[in-house]
Amino acid sequence: MNWMESARRIQEDLEGLSAFTATPGQGCTRLPFTPETRAAADFLLKKMEEAGLETWQDPAGNLFGLLPGRNREKPCILCGSHYDSVPGGGNYDGIAGVVCAIELARVLREEGITPDADYLAAAFMDEEGCRFGSGYFGSKAVLGRLEPGEAGRLTDEEGITLARAMERYGLKAGELPKAAWPKGRIGHFLEIHIEQGPVLDGQKKELGVVEGIVGLRRYRVAVNGRADHAGTTPMDMRSDAVEMAARVIAQVGDMAREAGGSTVATVGQVNTRAGAVNIVARSLEFSLDIRSLQNEVLEEIPARIRRRLQEETEKTGGSFTMEETLRIQPVELSRPMRKILEESCRERGHSWMALPSGAGHDALSMGQQVDTAMLFVPSRAGRSHCPEEYTPPEAFGRAVQVMKDLIVRL
Ligand code: GLV
Ligand code: MN
Ligand code: MN
Repeated sequence: MNWMESARRIQEDLEGLSAFTATPGQGCTRLPFTPETRAAADFLLKKMEEAGLETWQDPAGNLFGLLPGRNREKPCILCGSHYDSVPGGGNYDGIAGVVCAIELARVLREEGITPDADYLAAAFMDEEGCRFGSGYFGSKAVLGRLEPGEAGRLTDEEGITLARAMERYGLKAGELPKAAWPKGRIGHFLEIHIEQGPVLDGQKKELGVVEGIVGLRRYRVAVNGRADHAGTTPMDMRSDAVEMAARVIAQVGDMAREAGGSTVATVGQVNTRAGAVNIVARSLEFSLDIRSLQNEVLEEIPARIRRRLQEETEKTGGSFTMEETLRIQPVELSRPMRKILEESCRERGHSWMALPSGAGHDALSMGQQVDTAMLFVPSRAGRSHCPEEYTPPEAFGRAVQVMKDLIVRL
């Protein structure tokens, strides 16, 4: 198959999918279990069917398209990414990897290649975690790693639980255990994704072979003080939730800088409840996202933050809660598969480099239990999680070729 033809079809699919956003003209907003996700899911299922795949949606809202292999008993090859997006994001993060996985199936069929094991294109639900503050929902469901009651505990900004959002979407949280695949059924997981950073574009490399992915911790923190009159309450008689939280939040970045290396820490959301210009804030909630390739750091920083919250709230008689919403260990991706990807790049004359990933991916989640490989394509100027996100179609065409080589050699 001519890889420019692959590039053309991928571009066409991505253009079609770009219509499924809650914020037209202001980037892609496709939060989990919304009408936009439904429309994208229907589009993807249709594309999978047109590619000759047997399709289904699982109880978590993940989508699959099966191309049977020669040996149906052999652990299968799963290839894909997520089809949700961040609010106001781009048209490539996640969904491009799903489209590439479907294109891979088309190419295999057109070239008359029957893979040794079953090949499945996969589209995962809710990788980003933007609506319910967690993430990797679909891939965790596949691995049987969702905690009992998780869907009933996590809520969105409007207080709607994940379980209720599923119900409105036509799915039942009680059936989530059925989304788990039998142990050993998935032999390999493969993912194509945009880099979302500036390295490949800056170094003028066509492809990136991912060596490892940072581990992640996410928390929802609530700091509780006491509402009082902003004019009459003396400064030494207040329990000001904003002041207590701000003292701690101001140190979060420095904690990551001190840890060094790949470590990053972000407070991406801050909300005061019932706050007003003339009321001392009673409570403040903030999100926390901490990432590192070093596992120790992922234990240390949250413990330091907890201690600081304890100190600050104690001073004024306030209190706090710090709920962990996500815990994923860093992974090293499969060395043998990385070697095959690198060989294919060399043979096909594509420039490439090896690099780690600071972004989280379904490959991070799947890689906790399954032999996993991941290929990056360049992001223009490194921009991502914004409407400016862009990767030229040829880049995806090349990535599909190289992944095909890997599938053939597995
Ligand atoms: C997903 O893009 C993440 O890294 O948060
Ligand atoms: Mn993302
Ligand atoms: Mn992504």
